[in-house]
Formats: sequence, structure tokens, C-alpha cells
Amino acid sequence: MWHGRFSTPTADLLLRYSESISFDWRLWRHDIEGSIAHSAALEAAGLITHAEREQIVAGLREIGAEIEAGKFEFKVELEDIHMNIERELTRRIGDAGAKLHTARSRNDQVALDLRLFLRAECDAISVLVRDLQRSLVTLGDANRSVIIPGYTHLQRAQPVFFAHHLLAYVEMLDRDAGRIADARKRLNVLPLGSGAIAGSTIVLDRELVARLLDFPAVTQNSMDAVSDRDFAVEVLAALALIAVHLSRLSEDVILWCSAEFGFVTLSDAYTTGSSLMPQKKNPDAAELTRGKAGRVVGAVVSLLTTLKGLPLTYNRDMQEDKEPVFNAVDTVKAMLEVIAGMLREARVNAAACAAAVSDPMLLATDLADYLVRRGVPFRQAHEHVGRAVALCAEHLCSLPEIALPDYQAISPAFAADLYEVFDLSRAMSARKAIGAPSPENIAAQLTRWRTLLGAA
Ligand code: ARG
Repeated sequence: MWHGRFSTPTADLLLRYSESISFDWRLWRHDIEGSIAHSAALEAAGLITHAEREQIVAGLREIGAEIEAGKFEFKVELEDIHMNIERELTRRIGDAGAKLHTARSRNDQVALDLRLFLRAECDAISVLVRDLQRSLVTLGDANRSVIIPGYTHLQRAQPVFFAHHLLAYVEMLDRDAGRIADARKRLNVLPLGSGAIAGSTIVLDRELVARLLDFPAVTQNSMDAVSDRDFAVEVLAALALIAVHLSRLSEDVILWCSAEFGFVTLSDAYTTGSSLMPQKKNPDAAELTRGKAGRVVGAVVSLLTTLKGLPLTYNRDMQEDKEPVFNAVDTVKAMLEVIAGMLREARVNAAACAAAVSDPMLLATDLADYLVRRGVPFRQAHEHVGRAVALCAEHLCSLPEIALPDYQAISPAFAADLYEVFDLSRAMSARKAIGAPSPENIAAQLTRWRTLLGAA
């Protein structure tokens, strides 16, 4: 494609080193879509005839159909998807094909293709995020009376509804969807028409192209348009957060389905056995999700590192943007689908949850609150209850088993009604603050999310 200036062909070694067709072939649909829009601008500017445009569009559609059917042969010597399609078009239709690259460079072409790709993927990912939220809401709703210990430092802390724990992830995923939508807004700008760096002396109607490709705006600086991939970094950052959220959810599930917790049983369909230990049922779906989060985080770092030292404008380094983008997109989509499927088939073991949450120590803070209601400053109340807890450790008993006189020896503010604190359902009902897990709040949150998500 540059043989005019060169007398020796590219070394085979470099060819294989520099080709991107082995991975950027998947931009074909967007490349064709972009070329069809570009050809409309060429016709509008009188650079090709209507008949030539029709030849171009028909040729591109034919090539697209062949690629889709797996019948198109990509050539490594043609380096990338842009050249593969254009060269084949020209082979098929002749001069009209050779005119297509007027006022266009692969630099603005690849920037366009990647934006179109990511725009479509943002939409697909949003759907999957909403789907996973729905699975979480459904699982929480089906077990809305189940209470489990909430943990800090992985130590039993305070009782929470199981649904409250799941709804925490629904909130995280909602912000994730917001970040994806936000990144989509900023990437939704047409770069085509920026040429290689400085536009072109042949002036095309960029706004026409933008309308055809459904971009609400066009880039305003040709150098910026061909040199930045910040839009891809933003999507990757949003994907990294999704991956991290799913990794944490996975870790919770892994703990929950251990014998030590036993809160959840995963279905056979989403677990694997051991080739050696017949009793094993392993949460591989969750473990792989936790594991795969690493590569998504790596993708952001990879792209940022690629960009950080580049002088304006386009540098070939930027071809390294695609693999992390494709990999992160594919990985996160798979994670979202697998975790949603795993949760849809998960069973909650109400008895194991009830046994775990029956630990009265979970209500030690409630006992301190009891003293506060009787006029004791919280810091002192905390200390008093701490003394009671120490007594329990000493006598190998639990807070409700300490006799009233022993409580009163710690503080006279303790009275006979202190034992009511250990009534779990009362304790849950007392947690009425906005965002806290009273049964009424949980019911309201489940309803809110079911309405927002259109959950089944
Ligand atoms: N395959 C290239 C990439 O992915 C397309 C742009 C090539 N431009 C260039 N001047 N070599 O970045």
C-alpha cells in the first residue's frame, strides 16, 4: 500500500510482527459501516458518482456477508482490517474502490472503528449488568427473611438480611452501569475526517458522516482525534471496576459455599468436581471470575502504559490498544453472564444462616445502644459491654447467659429488660435508618430495584 516510495518489500519477520489482522478482523462490521458513511460524504462532495457509491456500498456489503459467513480470507500481508477490506473491494469493483480512501487515513479510520466497537459493547455490557442485578434481586427476594452475620475483617460483626448483602452489589453494579453510560457519552464523537493528523485539503461534510453513523458530535481537533485513546481507557477503567466488584462477590460466594459457612449451595451446573477427591464440589465459576479480574485490571494498566510516553499524534504503538480492549470486553461479558447464571441456580441454606446468626455476640453493639438509651455516653457503654464480653470469654458463655447482678456490677444502668436486646427480629426492626437493614427497608429496596430493573 506504500510501494510507491519503497523499493524492497517488508521483511517477512516484520510483517508477522506488525500485522494486526489476526485480532483486529473483529472490527470488520464497524470498518464497513464507517466506509459506507464515508462514501456518502465522498458522493456529496462530488468526488465519486452516485453509481460509484452504489458499487462501493454493494461491494462492502458483499464482503461483510462473506466475513460474517466465515468465507472471507484475511491476508496477513495486508496488515490490518482496513487494508484487507479496502484491497478486496478494489479488487472486486476497481477504481471506485480505489477512490474510497480519499480524505481518510487509517489513523482516523481505526479511531472511528474502535469508537464504534466500544459504543456497541457498552450497550451490550449494560444489558448484562442489568441482568446480573436482576439475578441478585431475585435471589434476595426469594430469601427475604434470611438473616446472616455481616462481617468486618471477616469476623462476625452485626446481623444483616442476606438480601441486604446482595443489594450492596446491586448498588455497586448500578454505579458500574452509570460509569459505562458516562464513558459511552464521551466516546460517542466522530473522529473520521481528521485524516492522518491534519485533516485533508479535500473537505468533506463530517457532520453528514456523523449523522449517518449516529454520532451526536464530531471531534474538534484532528490531532487529538487520531492520537488519544482516553475513551478506551475510560471504558477499560469501568470494566476493571465491574471485574473487581464481581471478584469480591465471587469471594463472598466462595466463602458462603464452604462447609465452614454453608450459607449457600451452588448447583451442579455451576460447580466442578475433583478428579481425585470424590466428595469435592468446587466453586470454579466464582474462582475463575476472581482470577480473571486480574487481566481486566491489567488491561487498563496496559493501555495507559502504551499511551503515556507517546508524542502526538499517531504512533504505531497504539495498535497495542486493541488486544487489551478486546480481552477485557470479552472477559467482563463472560464474567457477568456466568455469575448471573450461577446466582440464578444458587440455593440458600436457611438453617445454616439461622444457626450462624443466632450468635448473640452479633448484638453486642445493640447492648451498648441499650445503655445509650439509658443515658450512658456511648464510649462508656462500649466499655461496659466490652467488660461483659470479656466475662463471656472467661466463662465460656454468651452475653444472654450473664446474670443481671453481674451486669449491674459492671454498670447500674443495666436493668432486667436488657435481655430483650437479644431478640433478633426486634434487633432487625430497630435498624430503621435510611440504608440500614430493617425488614421494612429491605422490602422497600427490593421493590425499588424490582421496579427499576423490571425484575421477574
Ligand atoms: N492497524 C493500525 C492500528 O491498529 C491502523 C492504523 C495504522 N496507521 C498507520 N499509520 N500505520 O493502529
